[in-house]
Amino acid sequence: MVHYVIEMKDVEKSFFLGTERINIFTDLFYQCRENSFSLIKGPSGCGKSTLIALIAGLTLVNSGSIRVFDHDLHAMNTESLAIFRSMTIGIVFQMGHLISSLTIKENILLPVVLTERDEYDYEQRANNLMKEFSLIHRKNSLPRQVSGGEFQRAAFVRALILDPPLLLVDEATSNQDQKTRQVIIDKLTELKGKKTIVVISHEPEIEPLADQTHIPIHGCLQQK
Ligand SMILES: Nc1ncnc2c1ncn2[C@@H]1O[C@H](COP(=O)(O)OP(=O)(O)OP(=O)(O)O)[C@@H](O)[C@H]1O
Ligand SMILES: [Mg+2]
Repeated sequence: MVHYVIEMKDVEKSFFLGTERINIFTDLFYQCRENSFSLIKGPSGCGKSTLIALIAGLTLVNSGSIRVFDHDLHAMNTESLAIFRSMTIGIVFQMGHLISSLTIKENILLPVVLTERDEYDYEQRANNLMKEFSLIHRKNSLPRQVSGGEFQRAAFVRALILDPPLLLVDEATSNQDQKTRQVIIDKLTELKGKKTIVVISHEPEIEPLADQTHIPIHGCLQQK
């Protein structure tokens, strides 16, 4: 039987700006098979980042259901959702999001600390990833002291540190230098088939990796 890691059915999602209701999804249906590579593209404002936030349980649906690894996100309380998310999902946010008072290395090891694992066990993995992503010389720098590319690469490494089975990547390569683009594309190529991956991207090099491609349009997801 096909196992879906992500199953979204009849999802409605809207935001309120004051009294104005903005409907993003009116009838969303979306499935991702285990270890598949899914690509999401589409114009600015169409709902790509909102889709990622819904899958991660960072924003709630108005109605409908979202199951991730057989967990009904709506049935979970905030705490169990946070634990579930930290154990299973690596997220690379569009805006980066590193903690400004922590060094690059501390930021990368933050998921280890938050899930109460032994930092010592992840030291080598963190060092290897920092080398692979050309960050090792910046490990003691603060986020404000590194370049935009280094910042984004650190955000990517942080999403990988716990080796999560589900990886959500929101435009990690846009506005980045060639080196950052390439190292991220190479990593996604290496991870294809080994994790369930959902990537928002408009990179032509990422397109051939995709097992399925969707565009949010008219409140649903259209398969390309
Ligand atoms: N918290 C919020 N409150 C109100 N409106 C929001 C909120 N988050 C997103 N929106 C609106 O929802 C729409 C979809 O936003 P989203 O960030 O998902 O778009 P996107 O497809 O990722 O765009 P981009 O390519 O620019 O990143 C936008 O019109 C945005 O202004
Ligand atoms: Mg976005």
